[in-house]
Amino acid sequence: MAVEAVLLIILMSFFLGNTQQSVLISMECQPAVGVVGQTTNISCSFKRNFGADQKIIISAGAVTKRGETEPLFWFKNNTVDGDNRFKLLSKNDPSLLLSSTAVSDEGLYDYTVVNNRGIIEDGTFRISVTAKYNPPFISTWPEKIEEGGPADLYCNASGGYPAGAIHWFDSTNTNWTKSATLKITEREDKLVHLSSNLTFTSIDSSWAPFRCVVLNSKFIQEGETTSHLKFTASQSHSGSELGTVTISVLVIGLIILGLITAFLCHRRHVQRSTLEHNREAETKMLNSPQS
Ligand SMILES: *[C@@H]1O[C@H](CO)[C@@H](O)[C@H](O)[C@H]1NC(C)=O
Ligand SMILES: *[C@@H]1O[C@H](CO)[C@@H](O)[C@H](O)[C@H]1NC(C)=O
Ligand SMILES: *[C@@H]1O[C@H](CO)[C@@H](O)[C@H](O)[C@H]1NC(C)=O
Ligand SMILES: *[C@@H]1O[C@H](CO)[C@@H](O)[C@H](O)[C@H]1NC(C)=O
Ligand SMILES: *[C@@H]1O[C@H](CO)[C@@H](O)[C@H](O)[C@H]1NC(C)=O
Repeated sequence: MAVEAVLLIILMSFFLGNTQQSVLISMECQPAVGVVGQTTNISCSFKRNFGADQKIIISAGAVTKRGETEPLFWFKNNTVDGDNRFKLLSKNDPSLLLSSTAVSDEGLYDYTVVNNRGIIEDGTFRISVTAKYNPPFISTWPEKIEEGGPADLYCNASGGYPAGAIHWFDSTNTNWTKSATLKITEREDKLVHLSSNLTFTSIDSSWAPFRCVVLNSKFIQEGETTSHLKFTASQSHSGSELGTVTISVLVIGLIILGLITAFLCHRRHVQRSTLEHNREAETKMLNSPQS
């Protein structure tokens, strides 16, 4: 069918011939910027030279994506075929409408129309596609962050196009973006999923709340969200510190106790041995013959 359409266009121009040489017209199309899911207006017009008098009626046309051999969409008189999302604006206006625009529509196109006098006009147009990111969403690991402990802050934004970026700021507007890793993944529908991982080895609750800012491909802010972090008092941390202190005190106490015991034992021993020594001396004195 597509090949027939092209043949038809060529044949039509051949049979009808360029009878009015004075009417030299060319077609010009503006680059079109479409939004995913919406209708894109591909604005085209005929550029007429002097001598162009009569009204132009478009009788046939075909749109081919650059690099492909078969037309994507073609029409002749009242018949249309191919991608039915394309529509000719009117028989006097070569502009096209493309409904339900998708990322895959992005690219360069060749467009040929034949008018009622068999004159062929060629034009090209480019379709660029954009899509806004959905509002970002922040999550954390762990869910309940410990004061002074490690934490990962995640911010995701999806459904945008082309790829953008995620920036991080804290409550004092300090830029934390350099500490984060941005992951860009392509969804099945070619829309982009942005995911940023901001890692802390030791987080301070006074830095919160954090702001996650989503920027589009032109670095224009598209959305932002503020974190609602759940902090817990550093129980296990102060607990372990307390434990260490308690153990240290206990150990030191035991050492002191040991030293005191040892000292006391030693003193008793010394006392006893002195006593014994004295007693011995006494006995000796008693037993020794009187001088
Ligand atoms: C599309 O563009 C043409 C040419 O600029 C204009 O006449 C027409 O009103 C536009 N249509 C829509 C739906 O925007
Ligand atoms: C196009 O349609 C008109 C009537 O709507 C008809 O007169 C004309 O012959 C048709 N042209 C072609 C090429 O089919
Ligand atoms: C955000 O991204 C992370 C990492 O890719 C993923 O584990 C998490 O499920 C995502 N969350 C949402 C709400 O998309
Ligand atoms: C934050 O830091 C990032 C990465 O260094 C930088 O690209 C961006 O311009 C900074 N934003 C502001 C508002 O300073
Ligand atoms: C985030 O980064 C940290 C540190 O590099 C890493 O341990 C963690 O696995 C990352 N998380 C995800 C979901 O990639």
